[in-house]
Amino acid sequence: MARKFLVAGNWKMHGTPASVDALLGAMRHFSDAQAWSSGQVDVVVCPPSLYVPAALAALTGSSVAVGAQNASEHEAGAYTGEVSPQMFAALGVRYVILGHSERRSLFGESDALVAAKVQQALSAGLTPILCVGETFNERQQGVTSTVVQRQLDAVIALVGIDALHDCVIAYEPVWAIGTGMTATPAQAQEVHAFLRAHLATNSAAIATKIQILYGGSVKAGNAAELFACEDIDGGLIGGASLNAEEFLAICQAAQ
Ligand code: PGA
Repeated sequence: MARKFLVAGNWKMHGTPASVDALLGAMRHFSDAQAWSSGQVDVVVCPPSLYVPAALAALTGSSVAVGAQNASEHEAGAYTGEVSPQMFAALGVRYVILGHSERRSLFGESDALVAAKVQQALSAGLTPILCVGETFNERQQGVTSTVVQRQLDAVIALVGIDALHDCVIAYEPVWAIGTGMTATPAQAQEVHAFLRAHLATNSAAIATKIQILYGGSVKAGNAAELFACEDIDGGLIGGASLNAEEFLAICQAAQ
């Protein structure tokens, strides 16, 4: 079964009102020009929370969806500084990145917390983009598959395998994020195939259906060879998603 490709832009904590306006304007222009809306590729941009309403306004009726970069594991309540997935969903947000390595390492998010966030996001009707990936040391120690399996199993244990029907997985080797050190297509494909095979031990249907994105220093120049791999169904793009033309070229590589 052919899986549709998904290219997601993770803007991280970048942008001013003026630069965000310009980037959204360019995205809107490209999408209206049908530059990437062949129907084979879904595209989503994930701006900082504060700019989500502007993104929704600029991209309404376009082929580009809007996602969040993080959301609370709670629906509402006394959680100062947090935003719930229900709040994002009520505005029209469709996706949420969860378990990004920066959240795990800089904000101490455990496998259990990430799983709770996935559960809440699903109950809000958002599509979680669940990130998994090993550090450089873990790869050196040969425990890459143990690490990504542990991260994935924490989610499956809480929400059940069938709930992954509405999830996307992103494999992001931590050592490749923002470093310019992309995994080779063979390295990425090996982990993607492992993840899919592991999912298949729980449900063959979910394993066949689920989109597994690669993330970590994807650029216009290396996207096509990564996307050509059998088990890579698109990308989660950080730095290169801040440049509309570069991001467009990556989206085109997915076609
Ligand atoms: P990068 O980031 O493309 O800048 O390496 C990817 C990510 O963190 O999702």
